[in-house]
Amino acid sequence: MLNIVLFGPPGAGKGTQAEKLLKKYELVHLSTGEILRGEIAAQTPLGKEAQAFMDKGELVSDSVVINMIEGMIDENNSAKGFIFDGFPRTTAQAEALDKMLNAKKINISTMLALAVDDDELIKRLLHRGKESGRSDDQNESIIANRIKIYIKNTAPVIDFYDMQGKYTSIDGTGSVEEIYDRLCESIDKVK
Ligand code: AP5
Ligand code: MG
Repeated sequence: MLNIVLFGPPGAGKGTQAEKLLKKYELVHLSTGEILRGEIAAQTPLGKEAQAFMDKGELVSDSVVINMIEGMIDENNSAKGFIFDGFPRTTAQAEALDKMLNAKKINISTMLALAVDDDELIKRLLHRGKESGRSDDQNESIIANRIKIYIKNTAPVIDFYDMQGKYTSIDGTGSVEEIYDRLCESIDKVK
């Protein structure tokens, strides 16, 4: 199996690149953000609970997303592998993911972290906010909060995978194609 953690701050291009990678490597895309937005659109109890956090750019609770991911892994038990996008986002989530994968005798192949500076992230997200309708793209203070939370709660996940020798930083600037080529080059080394 090929299991990739596609990591990076808000607006780094995780979703954009995941869409391309899953076709090439025939992987299942697990984006906690996408799943949560689906729950909000369907107005489920989980969606209603998550919405208040997402609108402010805060993280949803670890237990909610861990349960969601476990359910999705079980639903896709014949998959060739997974791309985890936007998960794990805290060290507790990374530990929980390792534990659940170990129990299923599978593991993370690599963690690829897209590196993009804050000015470019803000530019990309404000630009998308004009059309996306995503509540968390609508103004610079919510975007700044997402970046602040990324630095405080999410960036430490890098150390978790670095200690396992699985972390690679990828330049996330340039054209979508250029970044895709960099990712594929790294993936082909662990495949
Ligand atoms: P989530 O949906 O994961 O959002 P995010 O991490 O904030 O990141 P984005 O999806 O905005 O960016 P991306 O890196 O996917 O970039 P994209 O390809 O879209 O999470 C949303 C919220 O859900 C969280 O704040 C939290 O509340 C909750 N949540 C989700 N997961 C959770 C978890 N595990 N635990 C707790 N809470 C969780 O690109 C961005 C834009 O840039 C696009 O417009 C794109 O077209 C453009 N772009 C892409 N590549 C390039 C390029 N090379 N050059 C120029 N523009 C580009
Ligand atoms: Mg995304």
